[in-house]
Amino acid sequence: MHKWNGKSLKIGDLVAETPIVQGGMGIGISLSGLASAVANEGGIGVISAAGIGMDQPDFGTDYISANNRALRKIIKRARELTNGIIGVNIMVAARNFDELAKSAIEEGIDIIFAGAGLPLNLPSLKTASSKTKLIPIVSSVRALKVITKKWIDKYNYIPDGFVLEGPMAGGHLGFSKDQVEDGEFSLENLIVPVVEELKKLEKSLGQKIPLIAGGGIYSGSDIKKILDLGADGVQMGTRFVATHECDADIKFKEMYVNAQKSDIRLIQSPVGLPGRAVHNNFIEEVKKGNKTPAKCPYNCIVTCKGEQSDYCIALALINAYKGKLENGFAFAGGNAWRVDKITSVKELVDSLEAEYIAAL
Ligand SMILES: Cc1cc2nc3c(=O)[nH]c(=O)nc-3n(C[C@H](O)[C@H](O)[C@H](O)COP(=O)(O)O)c2cc1C
Repeated sequence: MHKWNGKSLKIGDLVAETPIVQGGMGIGISLSGLASAVANEGGIGVISAAGIGMDQPDFGTDYISANNRALRKIIKRARELTNGIIGVNIMVAARNFDELAKSAIEEGIDIIFAGAGLPLNLPSLKTASSKTKLIPIVSSVRALKVITKKWIDKYNYIPDGFVLEGPMAGGHLGFSKDQVEDGEFSLENLIVPVVEELKKLEKSLGQKIPLIAGGGIYSGSDIKKILDLGADGVQMGTRFVATHECDADIKFKEMYVNAQKSDIRLIQSPVGLPGRAVHNNFIEEVKKGNKTPAKCPYNCIVTCKGEQSDYCIALALINAYKGKLENGFAFAGGNAWRVDKITSVKELVDSLEAEYIAAL
């Protein structure tokens, strides 16, 4: 049991006694193993739907069915492993966004987190009887306003919460390279107008809209700082990679343990966004132009340049998940270099809670 000095995270009728959302991490990094372990510690465990059908025999031939089938299977497996709160993270830029969201809703997922684009149509995918909560991931108050207006005007639906992701996060980022390098865009600065906007909305709508903020949060005292700024919970990805329960190969986790600060760098992803990753030989070869243009086996991301890209990011991330880092790379948050060991999710959450209490 975790108490967090009474600071639970409430999303409608869902109550997470640990105010931490484990960020969805694709491809394959957060599946049923990691998500259920976090949920068992009172947090919100999140399955990443990105490329989730990679082990299905028809992944290359019937992409939509393969991914739907795998998503349903992995949600069911997570449910067998925990009675806690389980969410799914779906990229809006995924070609099969609608199908994945519908499958997750049919499986009774607790929450859908939707980022990498504005999930403008998400409420239309929900059935009347569904209790699934819908939470967009945004990087600006502007995106938050656009989504809220659209959902209310078109669907009469108030977002069940927002994740605000700052520029220190891992994976694809909602910022340009210049913005990432500009101190003005720190999570601490970004959070202030978002909290103000949500307060205004809550007043006019008569409903609480919880805010979860993340990107570079490392310690329990970081968590306290972000909650003190007005967030109701935090989203953390990187720290959960270096756990036994994380679904990636051990070599992926060891990339974090062995990384120096200078190894954590920005890349320009073929999907058209900057990303943050642990630098390795594969990334170096891409930069030098030594990778041949990609075959596009899946056509998975709407914004990807496909066969005009230097490489297929889906294949690179699947390779990394499997530990084949000569042919892929590990996405990582800005603080991944600080990770010095692999622990259990329980040990990690215990230590974060102890640090949080000590900082009060
Ligand atoms: C390996 C890795 C993969 C990620 N994949 C996704 C993803 O598929 N979808 C997404 O919305 N965010 C993704 N993220 C972002 C995380 O969900 C999380 O919000 C972010 O990393 C938080 O910052 P932190 O890692 O510094 O804690 C990924 C992050 C990492 C480290």
